[in-house]
Amino acid sequence: MIFHNTTSSVRRFFLGPLTMLFILLTPAAFAADLDKGKTLYLAHCSGCHGEKGFSIMPQAPNFARGESLAQPDPVLMDAIRSGSDTRPPFLGILNDREILDVISYVRTLL
Ligand code: HEC
Repeated sequence: MIFHNTTSSVRRFFLGPLTMLFILLTPAAFAADLDKGKTLYLAHCSGCHGEKGFSIMPQAPNFARGESLAQPDPVLMDAIRSGSDTRPPFLGILNDREILDVISYVRTLL
């Protein structure tokens, strides 16, 4: 009985907080922040690509139809960083973390 109580209080003491820490830290450490991605998208991208991903600028891909999105994140990231003749470079404006947040948000527009 004493052994059982000791074991369960040890368990309660260590496993509770550790489980909580794991649950709290895992999403923050590994998942993209879609809220941030949305804010950044509306501030920097929606002027051409449209608030809901239906492009306003004729040459810009329609993200709502999945246009240009069949590419891995690092490839999109490079394109967004460097820009082109028709779109601005975001190098120095958005950091890598922010670009990944935007890409993850863009993928939800489909
Ligand atoms: C001034 C208008 C404009 C803005 C602002 C803009 N884009 Fe674009 N974007 C375009 C145009 C036009 C194209 C297609 C032509 C091209 O890729 O050169 C494009 C293409 C893209 C592509 C496809 C690139 C590829 O290589 O397939 C991605 C991804 C993209 N934009 C993401 C974004 C994101 C994310 C933002 C905001 C951080 C953004 N764009 C802001 C106009 C814009």
